[in-house]
Amino acid sequence: MPAKKIGLIGVGAIARWAHIPGILRSPDLELSALCDTDAAALKSASQEYGIPMERCYRNSEELIALAGVDALDICTPNDVHIPIALQAAGAGLPFSVEKPLAMNVQQAERLAKETRGRSLANMVCFSYRFKAAARYARALVRSGELGELYHVNLRYFQAWGLPVFQTPLLWRFIGERTGSGALGDLGSHGLDLVSFVTGRGYEKLIGHNGTFVHERVKLDGSGLGPVDVDDFSNALACMEGGLSAVFEITRFAYGRGNYQRMEIYGSKGSLIYELDARPDQDTLSLCQGEAMRRGNTYVELRIPDEYRADQTQSFADILLGRGDGLSATVEDGLVNQRAVEAVLRSAASGQWEKV
Ligand SMILES: NC(=O)c1ccc[n+]([C@@H]2O[C@H](COP(=O)([O-])OP(=O)(O)OC[C@H]3O[C@@H](n4cnc5c(N)ncnc54)[C@H](O)[C@@H]3O)[C@@H](O)[C@H]2O)c1
Repeated sequence: MPAKKIGLIGVGAIARWAHIPGILRSPDLELSALCDTDAAALKSASQEYGIPMERCYRNSEELIALAGVDALDICTPNDVHIPIALQAAGAGLPFSVEKPLAMNVQQAERLAKETRGRSLANMVCFSYRFKAAARYARALVRSGELGELYHVNLRYFQAWGLPVFQTPLLWRFIGERTGSGALGDLGSHGLDLVSFVTGRGYEKLIGHNGTFVHERVKLDGSGLGPVDVDDFSNALACMEGGLSAVFEITRFAYGRGNYQRMEIYGSKGSLIYELDARPDQDTLSLCQGEAMRRGNTYVELRIPDEYRADQTQSFADILLGRGDGLSATVEDGLVNQRAVEAVLRSAASGQWEKV
């Protein structure tokens, strides 16, 4: 079967770091056209990836109309996920779109309405679903290895918000471009990961969000501009089946690059999933048969190869009708957006908020 031609929208950090290498690696995909509103970024990507300027566009609608691609890969900032995904859906083009799916639930519902009941392949890039340790944890939990589930504790820590990095006022700090801060950026991953592994949805949440650095240097150098989103977000969740979950999410964790830790406690055992405890590695440890012994009774598991997965190849598999059903869809993105929004509402109201 000929490789699927991909039109990639937004040639920024995540496109260059993950999506384009993924497309170039896949025997089933071809990087066929690029789009970015930033002319300089587009030109440099055109040269770097050998896509002629005739196949590089400043406008996603033009790419869709003229480039003859088989699918879109949407890697733009959060405020332009839904508008471009709606363009793709309108043109009947399959798409993958970065997380968080939308700026708010209303937007996510609009896209879900467009895609629901149609066989339009789609994927929302909740990337940690592709970590082997997460997939293995999911399989162990679902096979009943931990018994009845009681508690989940998820931390997602990064450091790049700390004053020492002098990170400027990127779109990630501007509410009307990002929706929320650490919550939508990192918390959306955490909320998805816990649901993915446990199979449980969110019933209600209570959240505490805050901002440590209130002004940052504007990108055009014209002084300081306001940060109007959260730098950290902590939440408690009541999940289906009485599962109790705790989330700690921050961009202000000194010494943490992209650190995740998920602890799951059940009646017959517990699991610890970690990412980046060792550089770039995901690990899974299990405790069983030592329910109350002090000290380290966790055994690091060897993760069977069958749990290894690649996000971009998974998108190719979806396009080719052989997906494994484990990638997030627009419907999952909508469910996730509802949980994110419940935390935001709760942080404002100080009350538990139903999802
Ligand atoms: N899945 C993950 O783990 C992960 C990791 C990092 C970022 N992301 C997500 O990826 C998205 C992009 O993040 P980033 O760090 O690459 O941002 P970025 O700012 O580095 O890149 C975004 C690019 O999109 C371009 N752009 C903006 N509006 C556009 C439009 N209307 N049409 C075409 N191009 C447009 C910008 O010019 C820029 O080149 C965000 O939604 C972010 O949450 C996901």
